[in-house]
Amino acid sequence: MKTLKVRLGPRSYNIIIASGILKELARMLSTYSDITKVMLITDKNVARFYGPIVTESLRPYKLEAAVATIEPGEEQKSLSTAEVLYERLFQHGMDRKGLVVALGGGVVGDIAGYVAATYMRGIPYIQAPTTLVAQVDSSIGGKVAVNHPKGKNMIGCFYQPRAVYIDPSVLKTLPREELTQGLVEVIKYGVIRDAGLFNYLEAHIEELLGLDPEVLEKVIATCCRIKAWVVHKDEREETGLRSILNYGHTLGHAIEAVEGYKGYRHGEAVATGMVLATRIALLMGLAGEEVLERQKNLLRAAGAPTDYRPRDIQEIFAFLRRDKKALAGRLNLILPTKIGKVVLKEVPEEMVREVLTSG
Ligand SMILES: NC(=O)c1ccc[n+]([C@@H]2O[C@H](COP(=O)([O-])OP(=O)(O)OC[C@H]3O[C@@H](n4cnc5c(N)ncnc54)[C@H](O)[C@@H]3O)[C@@H](O)[C@H]2O)c1
Repeated sequence: MKTLKVRLGPRSYNIIIASGILKELARMLSTYSDITKVMLITDKNVARFYGPIVTESLRPYKLEAAVATIEPGEEQKSLSTAEVLYERLFQHGMDRKGLVVALGGGVVGDIAGYVAATYMRGIPYIQAPTTLVAQVDSSIGGKVAVNHPKGKNMIGCFYQPRAVYIDPSVLKTLPREELTQGLVEVIKYGVIRDAGLFNYLEAHIEELLGLDPEVLEKVIATCCRIKAWVVHKDEREETGLRSILNYGHTLGHAIEAVEGYKGYRHGEAVATGMVLATRIALLMGLAGEEVLERQKNLLRAAGAPTDYRPRDIQEIFAFLRRDKKALAGRLNLILPTKIGKVVLKEVPEEMVREVLTSG
């Protein structure tokens, strides 16, 4: 078992990582002396595999538990689903002595966290992430949100969980393409902050894909440590540090949107965004060829694409200009200078055009 701390003064909390911890969840929750009721929020896929483990484990304890199960999928991260969940909380008589347990991927974590943040002006919640994306990224840091027709995550707030319980063994039921989504984020951590992690990934990618428990736990813990550090330094995205987590994401979001959220899944779009950002870094003389080749090799080994040719380059630029992180005529992008180090740079549009049209 590994325990890490997210240091945020009175909002500090632990991240506990251990194979099989899901079975122990109820015992851990029973130590919260202020909690009398629990609402487990999950989705249908996760409920099928892990719902009974958690509800059964709650039985011996004096915690009145109920379960709210939503359909899987990004479309569920909506205000209308949030309303259904508020209704379930009222039915179960939840007040501030009630605890929301978010059991699932980033979709469940984001909406359950948002509902906990807003129901009765905020009730406690914990994260029990079940995808690799959620275990290394979305469950930590307190960004909770639902989507709006105007854009993803447009309605939300910062609301830290009371704890994060990560059980790497649940990844055995995760579809392979979902694992790849998470591996892209893992590789991203290596590039932005930790050359040692990147080296380790290069040496152990096969074990990681095979879900070797030791390798998995070590990698998840390393990523969580980086995320916890970034959140500690810049909880509300004010100092700019948290923006390093956006490496590959500005171009990735544009690719995802232009491809109609179909051809490229989020992680795949981020992988191509990372490669494009690195090619820009090469053009600007900030990084050497090795930084590009090592990332491409690792991303490919993880099952992610590394090449992208836009169908319509104008659409990409139209999206980038609308993107909140973009400036008129120039883009602010996170670019690598070496493995383990990134910088924020203003990049002329022509350079983005060049990497999108050559390659
Ligand atoms: N809050 C943040 O800081 C943050 C960071 C990154 C991403 N996100 C958000 O996270 C969401 C994406 O999360 P995700 O990639 O986890 O996707 P997801 O929650 O949609 O889960 C992916 C799929 O895997 C299934 N699943 C989950 N765990 C499983 C398991 N153990 N076994 C079998 N199936 C399982 C789900 O039912 C779903 O079908 C997006 O909405 C994104 O905006 C938030």
